Amino acid sequence: MATTALSQAYPLGTTINERGHLEIGGCDLIEVAEQHGTPAYVYAEDDIRARARAYVEAFSSRTGDFEVIYASKALPITAAYRLMAEEGLSVDVASGGELHLALKAAVPPERLFMHGNNKSRAELELAFDAGLGYLVLDSLHEIELAEELLAGRDRRQAVLIRVTPGIKPSTHSYIQTGQLDSKFGFGLEDGLAAEAVRRAQSAAHLDLVGIHAHIGSQIFELEPYAKTIQLLADFVESSGVECRLLNVGGGLGIAYTAEDEPPSIESYVDALLRHAPPGVTVLCEPGRSLVGNAGVTVYTVGTVKRVEDVRTWVAVDGGMSDNLRPMLYGARYEAEIVGRFGGDEICTVVGMHCESGDVLVRDVPLDDPRPGDLLVIPATGAYGHSMANNYNALRRPPVVFCRDGHARLVVRRETFDDLTLRDV
Ligand code: LLP
Repeated sequence: MATTALSQAYPLGTTINERGHLEIGGCDLIEVAEQHGTPAYVYAEDDIRARARAYVEAFSSRTGDFEVIYASKALPITAAYRLMAEEGLSVDVASGGELHLALKAAVPPERLFMHGNNKSRAELELAFDAGLGYLVLDSLHEIELAEELLAGRDRRQAVLIRVTPGIKPSTHSYIQTGQLDSKFGFGLEDGLAAEAVRRAQSAAHLDLVGIHAHIGSQIFELEPYAKTIQLLADFVESSGVECRLLNVGGGLGIAYTAEDEPPSIESYVDALLRHAPPGVTVLCEPGRSLVGNAGVTVYTVGTVKRVEDVRTWVAVDGGMSDNLRPMLYGARYEAEIVGRFGGDEICTVVGMHCESGDVLVRDVPLDDPRPGDLLVIPATGAYGHSMANNYNALRRPPVVFCRDGHARLVVRRETFDDLTLRDV
């Protein structure tokens, strides 16, 4: 028998309608799947907007000196860049490609922050030509290269220095980034950060305006953020630099399942501002917490294999090509049969790829799954589409934004012809 209590992993405003179907952004998910096919990434546009506003309002109710920067790697599609700019957010890009997408979406270049531990000369040239707002310096080599390119253009560039504050939040080691032993940034502990400050200050075309740190991702504790902002403030004070921007990066965790209890955006912002010294401008770079819960992936069930007394394998028409997170980070998700929520048959949901590791959700209760059913996995809005790939020559799924009962295709499904488009 279906239950109607929806887990917090689903987008805000999601309901089960009178036909027993899941409704996202006012759109019946079964109709969206019929119209756009499966697998598909389906978003509640208003969920993204609400979370963007939650960030902005949490800051603006406490201070005028802040900036919320969308970490676009979480969902780098022009529709998302546009939406974030409409909501008054700045944007973080981490490659020439993300820069290109942001510019295509007409994000004002002065509102762009560019990251990367290994930015190429060509990427820096692209950024400077576009009128990039802020460059986040990550290495001594980059300081030299940027200075050389800017001198050639006779242009000054606002820069931040990325430091590793020596903080290790509890999250998967692949997404911890704040420790000294990291490929990113300049260590506070080993003195490299102080050296970077000296070099940036003596570079005639670099204007050092801030310090940046990103300690990791999918973090549920607030204390590491409080520590980070204090360390950044102490560093600014001890090195005597005149810079006002303290950027604490992204990383606020989200609920992938009903058991997850991430802090609210409000309490995260509150923690940042309570620990920031007066007179500084606090910046943060959320990615996952803006788009993660807004999106679900809808699949069609193909085969259901019942190995007696062992396991029920439920295979869907996607897998590790549209969601790598379970394989990379051991990430756990929920799943339901659309239209028959609940159930008590313990199943393992797998993809269609030629790998035993192609497991999307392990040991999830479903209601008698059958071939042809639609299956939904919530909380796939961040790093699903952006890490999608063409393994086994699968065509990457479309992205559909739902709002007020209208389903808008914002990225189409790849076609078989797309698969040979780059062949020469
Ligand atoms: N700022 C910087 C400099 C970052 O490197 C990142 C993420 C963010 C902000 C945004 O972090 P968020 O708020 O989304 O946690 N593929 C992994 C996540 C990698 C995150 C990389 N950097 C995953 O699927 O969990």
